[in-house]
Amino acid sequence: MDKIIIRGGNRLSGTVPVSGAKNAALTLLPCALLTEEPVTLRNLPRLADIDGFQHLLNQFGVSTSIAGARPEDFGRVMTLQATRLTSTVAPYDLVRKMRASILVLGPLLSRAGEATVSLPGGCAIGNRPIDLHLKALEAFGAQIELAAGYVRAIAPDGGLPGGDYSFPIVSVGATENALMAAVLARGTSTLHNAAREPEIVDLCNLLVAMGAQIEGIGTSDITIHGVNRLHGATYMVMPDRIEAGSYACAAAITGGDITLAGARAEDMASTIQALRDAGVLVEQVRGGLRVASEGPLRPVTLSTAPYPGLATDMQAQLMAMLCLANGSSVLTETIFENRYMHVPELNRMGAHIETKGRTAIVHGVSKLHGAEVMATDLRASMSLVIAGLAAEGESQVHRLYHLDRGYERLEEKFALIGADVERVGGD
Ligand code: EPZ
Repeated sequence: MDKIIIRGGNRLSGTVPVSGAKNAALTLLPCALLTEEPVTLRNLPRLADIDGFQHLLNQFGVSTSIAGARPEDFGRVMTLQATRLTSTVAPYDLVRKMRASILVLGPLLSRAGEATVSLPGGCAIGNRPIDLHLKALEAFGAQIELAAGYVRAIAPDGGLPGGDYSFPIVSVGATENALMAAVLARGTSTLHNAAREPEIVDLCNLLVAMGAQIEGIGTSDITIHGVNRLHGATYMVMPDRIEAGSYACAAAITGGDITLAGARAEDMASTIQALRDAGVLVEQVRGGLRVASEGPLRPVTLSTAPYPGLATDMQAQLMAMLCLANGSSVLTETIFENRYMHVPELNRMGAHIETKGRTAIVHGVSKLHGAEVMATDLRASMSLVIAGLAAEGESQVHRLYHLDRGYERLEEKFALIGADVERVGGD
């Protein structure tokens, strides 16, 4: 397994390109199942999770082709075509490796009237149930059975009637599955307390480009008028707001000054506010965002929340940055029950963080020191890299596959802005 060696202390400076958003791409890819015509996605990030999803779609008979990507390019163009489906089963050995596979449930149900998908199971940050996905699909008329670790969903006489569902809590994935199930329903469907993340807006924009009829895009109340068929489309994946925020934290903790090329400020308002509250300069510049340290970091109080609140996917990275703030910060993680796996590892690097349930108190220290640390989940891994960039001495982050799931060629991107990082194989 690869690891990354980081020699800390360099102030990051220069321009880093922001890739297409992983969490948008993972819900745009299954849209190809909704039509027999080709769907072309541009600005698709080169990530392990995207490769995994492509492989899963190939299992259903979806043809995929990659166009025009030179080795040095970031991002790719992928054309997918589900002329006819040869399977509607998402097997355990694929789903267990990538829980976002559950996002084929809605589109398979829409297109084929049935779907059999392995239950995704939990992961490092929580048990990640899918009850809300299933309740929404049932509200739209699906028959749901659970057996032998699989979900089997069937549309009565081959087509969902549609219906109404109010989410008891906001769920990004459940909103996405429900949207992809409703677009080909026989009637009209409504969702209330739907997720409003920019990735949901990206999904709705692609569905509309394919001929879907959706009202209330970007709000908590969405109405979907089912149509008989959808056609192909070409669509540009939105920029990754979490990747951009992660590099912003790296610039801030190293006293740096970088430009995030392609970052979309309107997707990142809560992260930008958190950075500004911590004393970091963030300003829109042509084609992106400039993030510059303006002196010592200030402690802040932050709480994650569904969009437009602070993204839970930014919590670990902001925590790493705040390890060097002048004072104590208080972070509250309201979305996932176990998203502090990075804390013990950051403390091994000299941080002083105390956790109590969903709250973490980050007592600022004057310096961090390099250490060998273990990545546990995607965003926790990035927080360790961010800490290593500011630490004195050398850090080694093991189990890099966690990072490769969500950060496109991160050692190359960090090298572009002056970090001393090296990927080493076979640890
Ligand atoms: C998406 O996960 C993202 N993943 C996550 O990003 C992100 O952290 C999360 O949304 C919240 O923003 C992708 O888009 C691929 P949820 P998802 O359903 O859809 C509970 C990353 O690092 N819940 O909004 O799984 C759930 O346990 C990843 O890029 C139920 O109880 O998140 C959690 O507590 C990590 N029942 C809360 O809702 C359900 O049926 C929010 O989960 C579904 C969810």
